[in-house]
Amino acid sequence: MPELDVAELVEAVTRQVLARLGQDGDAPAIAGRAYDSTRPLVAANWKMNACAEGLAPYLAELVAADPAADVLLFPPAVLLAAVADSVSRAGRADFGVGAQDLHWEAGGAHTGEHSGALIRAAGGSWTLVGHSERRQAGETDEQIRRKIRAGFDADLAVMLCVGESLADRRTGATFRVLRNQLQAALSELALQPPTPDRLAVAYEPVWAIGTGEVATLAQIQETAAFVRRVVAEVFDFQRARDIRVLYGGSVKPGNTGEIMACPDVNGVLVGGASLQGASFRAIADASVGADATRRRR
Ligand code: PGA
Repeated sequence: MPELDVAELVEAVTRQVLARLGQDGDAPAIAGRAYDSTRPLVAANWKMNACAEGLAPYLAELVAADPAADVLLFPPAVLLAAVADSVSRAGRADFGVGAQDLHWEAGGAHTGEHSGALIRAAGGSWTLVGHSERRQAGETDEQIRRKIRAGFDADLAVMLCVGESLADRRTGATFRVLRNQLQAALSELALQPPTPDRLAVAYEPVWAIGTGEVATLAQIQETAAFVRRVVAEVFDFQRARDIRVLYGGSVKPGNTGEIMACPDVNGVLVGGASLQGASFRAIADASVGADATRRRR
């Protein structure tokens, strides 16, 4: 695949985005595929980074990943349109692309922010909400609740991030904290719950993010099962069974298989190890590999 000129690409994509703005879209969250919660979902959160080797080589690597995994990319907002465009050119139109955050208002005087409609117009079909780095920057439960609503209103699928701090874990407060985060985020949707393809929950212990420290498999399984239990309390058992619960926090190619073998884990949300195509591809492959297929679900 030839190297793309980013400036040229951004200009072309900007034209498309402007054309799409204002159009109603109803694209599925992972285009071109019926929802199947048993397919592993591997999600890349680039945070405030571009992928290491440039978009074209990164995607060239990734398109060769095991097609049995659903792949989702969360680039920085300024790269969203270029990534979405490159993904569809790269021949894996089934890859999902999303934003790392969104504003709860549909538009208006909010300098530096982006709405769900802008994300959708840029080619995004997902948004992260409630990542711990945003919570640490001051995002409140109330803002998270409004962001989730705004995401659904804009027809985006939402990946809600929850996780406890090290102090929470040490003082035995993990489940109380997670229950509070999940209830605050989801309770208002109880009367009109999202379909399972529109909501995923990423369990990311704050102490495992970017630290190299991974939760034990027992902690991951127990907590993923707990997330499902609270989702069942808020919505219903079927939804709790059918939504995807991901683990995030120092996921690497070498630990993906065993994490995916946890019966309640459907995928991984990956920061640092998603910045290089080869490493993220290895994670996608491992998510459907021998270890992962020991899963019971
Ligand atoms: P990490 O980040 O994989 O670098 O630990 C995960 C995340 O914050 O989503």
